[in-house]
Amino acid sequence: MNASVDLRRDGEIAVVTVDNPPVNALKHEVRAGLVEGLRRTRDDATVEAVIIACAGRTFFAGADITEFGKPPQAPGLGEVIAAIEAMPKPVVAALHGTALGGGFELALACHFRVAVAGARVGLPEVKLGLLPGAGGTQRLPRLIGPEKALKMIVTGDPIEAREAFADGVIEEIVDGDLTDGAIAFVRRIVADRRPLRLVRDRDDKLVAEGFADAAEVLTRRLRGREAPAACVEAVRNAIVLPFEEGLQREGELFRKLVAGDQSKAQRHIFFAEREAARVPGIPDGTKPRPMATAAVIGAGTMGGGIAMCFANAGIPVTIVETSRDLLQRGIDRVAANYRTTVSRGGLAAGEMEHRLALIHGVTELDAVGAADFVIEAVFEEMDLKKRVFADLDRIAKAGAVLATNTSTLDVDAIARATKRPQDVLGTHFFSPANVMRLLEIVRGAATAPDAVATAVALGRRLDKVPVTVGVCYGFVGNRMLARRSVEAERLLLEGALPQEVDAAVTGFGFPMGPFAMADMAGLDVGWRIRKGRGERNEIEDALCEAGHFGQKTGKGYFRYEAGSRTPLPDPEVERTILEVSSRAGIARRPIPPEEIVERMVYPMVNEGARILEEGIATRPGDIDVIWVYGYGWPVWRGGPMYYADRLGLAQIRDRLTLYAERSGDETLRPATRISRLAAEGRGFASPAPS
Ligand SMILES: NC(=O)c1ccc[n+]([C@@H]2O[C@H](COP(=O)([O-])OP(=O)(O)OC[C@H]3O[C@@H](n4cnc5c(N)ncnc54)[C@H](O)[C@@H]3O)[C@@H](O)[C@H]2O)c1
Repeated sequence: MNASVDLRRDGEIAVVTVDNPPVNALKHEVRAGLVEGLRRTRDDATVEAVIIACAGRTFFAGADITEFGKPPQAPGLGEVIAAIEAMPKPVVAALHGTALGGGFELALACHFRVAVAGARVGLPEVKLGLLPGAGGTQRLPRLIGPEKALKMIVTGDPIEAREAFADGVIEEIVDGDLTDGAIAFVRRIVADRRPLRLVRDRDDKLVAEGFADAAEVLTRRLRGREAPAACVEAVRNAIVLPFEEGLQREGELFRKLVAGDQSKAQRHIFFAEREAARVPGIPDGTKPRPMATAAVIGAGTMGGGIAMCFANAGIPVTIVETSRDLLQRGIDRVAANYRTTVSRGGLAAGEMEHRLALIHGVTELDAVGAADFVIEAVFEEMDLKKRVFADLDRIAKAGAVLATNTSTLDVDAIARATKRPQDVLGTHFFSPANVMRLLEIVRGAATAPDAVATAVALGRRLDKVPVTVGVCYGFVGNRMLARRSVEAERLLLEGALPQEVDAAVTGFGFPMGPFAMADMAGLDVGWRIRKGRGERNEIEDALCEAGHFGQKTGKGYFRYEAGSRTPLPDPEVERTILEVSSRAGIARRPIPPEEIVERMVYPMVNEGARILEEGIATRPGDIDVIWVYGYGWPVWRGGPMYYADRLGLAQIRDRLTLYAERSGDETLRPATRISRLAAEGRGFASPAPS
């Protein structure tokens, strides 16, 4: 047909095969080729049935999202689907890999679907702030009922072929060659003269009962987000409106979302995430080093979680502790973690055993000598880390990547404890390490390009989102977070209460406010560090002195009922705050939520600007990705730097100037980059005119 679409014959069966690497996105050329292939097979009386299949690693994994926001180029996916539905002979979609988004919608328009056992199908559009816009919201409910369809559409999570088969989405699971299996399947259809029934013509599963409740449960935690609400509306339309009308409404909803701010922000993050994997200064074609086995040093909170990441990815990992007891405790925690997942239905018991068997605990550091990638996660103490790295230098095999999970310490100083600084870097995981997707890769002054490439490749293998950053205190995420913490404390002194600050921040879209987060992490850690350094944080220190260590003691900035993690306002905390304010001679005033949000966000943007000035982060988008995946920044607001660009940097500059003057805190003065860009009327992301 064209460079992407091939049409061949197997006797009376036509096979249309698309080959558009890497994921067979449904770009214009593919759509045009499909329409042409369908036209020819329809007009050819010797063709009895048509198979639509894809070459390479997957069936169509979705639309070509680079086309979003551009003028549509005919034929659109709707026209391909119309051509399929107009076929007077059976059309079978043959699925492998991931049939996602528009790809799955195309398959839903076919008369039949067959798949290999490893295939998955899904409608992930909601993850880009969209809804399936090619009939998915109308066809899927007709196939599997509105409730289940809504679940797939609102979560965006795909299902396995076996589940799809059990639900009746797929007619057959094919063993062996997929195309051969699809041909054999369709020959039986033709021989049996099976009637051709389109999904759009079915309505036996369209029951309204229970839908409203299911929709409420599924979207309860997604308030403020336009796409999930639109998904609910579209699926409800499938129940109450005739097919064509439902389809038309779906199109209208899609067009509204695609032009809206939320989807634009989510698409920004999608592209920024992919961009973040491209690290400057790494020559094209740099190969990651071989990575077959790993080791983790320290079986504490982070070490255990990191070991789980390796085991989850099928990589054998050796974990080292200082004593049998501590080792056992660490491994018991890992096992307990897995058991919780199993009891919640997230993991098969057999798979848990398999993963646990990949984790090998030892108490001798010598055992890491075989590992390709070593991650140190011992206490946050420079001397200890240096000793560990000096030992690793002696023990680790040549070419192994030696990584530290430090949150703050100087990676270059740690690297200098070895005679192979080119192999040393930071891999900064976030807690809980087996859950949080962000991985900050800290590149030292001497780190070799292929060591960075290995860490990026590892991050991907562990299903993380790797972002490479430079060495500085706190790297990107925690360095910006520290600015927010200072300002949060200042808000308390000036008149706000923890519950007001947290409500403003969760109202903005974060899952948790700064004070609930502090309670979760524990207030005592920072208190001990401050004591050691002779520093003070008046409110937090006063709370710690009164035994408020956070969730672990049932009281911190909030109080907690026994066995509950719900933060409740605490009158005792309020008294403490008022006392500290009064001692400092501050006249408290009510602080409106808008001001709280500005003061929680703008100082972080300011620090982000300095981070860019210093070259610690490569792109504003990298910072956005860090905040979305590591700190719960609401993805539909696109990350702090994107958000600042949308507001306009003049606004950020003016408000920061005001807050700097009011507080006397010079660090709140707008960064040079903000002042310069604002004066030029530009944003962080707009390229400088050359
Ligand atoms: N906890 C977090 O939220 C978090 C997040 C990111 C990074 N980090 C960093 O990760 C590292 C570990 O933090 P954690 O919270 O897991 O601490 P932790 O105290 O829970 O665990 C540290 C473990 O290292 C062990 N250890 C100490 N010396 C050792 C040695 N020489 N050989 C082998 N094991 C040794 C200890 O026995 C302990 O079990 C620190 O650098 C920390 O800053 C922590």
